[in-house]
Amino acid sequence: MEFILDTAEIDEVAEIAAWGVLHGVTTNPTLIRRAGGDFVETVRQIAELCDGPISAEVTATDTEGMLAEAYALKEQLPENVIIKVPCTPEGLAATRELSKAGIGVNVTLVFSVAQALLAARAGATYVSPFIGRIDDTGGDGMQFIQDLMQAWSQYPDLKTKVLAASIRSPEHVLQCLLAGAHACTIPTNVFRQLPNHPLTDKGIEMFLADWAEVESEGRSLTS
Ligand code: E4P
Repeated sequence: MEFILDTAEIDEVAEIAAWGVLHGVTTNPTLIRRAGGDFVETVRQIAELCDGPISAEVTATDTEGMLAEAYALKEQLPENVIIKVPCTPEGLAATRELSKAGIGVNVTLVFSVAQALLAARAGATYVSPFIGRIDDTGGDGMQFIQDLMQAWSQYPDLKTKVLAASIRSPEHVLQCLLAGAHACTIPTNVFRQLPNHPLTDKGIEMFLADWAEVESEGRSLTS
């Protein structure tokens, strides 16, 4: 599974990129608002820190407007930037045009299997089902991702990757892994929890205590 970071904060991208496991980054207008600063400049800096796919979202709601924004972004930004469009009829039409032009597209705000399959047929590189927001409204986001992956398994010709989004906890990440999602975009607070385990900390503590004993006996790495 591809590990993708869901943020527009440059420092956070630098922090997680340093771990050597970061595949890409997703941004959206809300994340850009929270981070402050210029949109294009922010995405450029992120794209310099991570050479995988970086999603930049359009805000027009008509196909022509989406295409105009997408081409303008592609002109100004590095090659690894892909275009995020909402899953609407207009977004599907934009996806078709952009994919025909060889531009990567992440179709976002996906809440049903039908939406995801339509986006795939329109040529999306990624479709982004929003797990957490389904949970927020009383639905079952995990069931949705499982249904989606089951649907994907029926159509082996599909090239589009399922990018699980709106992740709220390490448990969400685990369930996405188990369901076979191709990618998962994870907010920084959740990403930071993934490498940690109390038994790892306890194990290090015990090894260090034993090593201190070894050294106190005059036996060390260099002796
Ligand atoms: C996906 O690309 C979105 O940026 C994101 O996952 C939205 O999630 P939220 O529900 O936490 O806003």
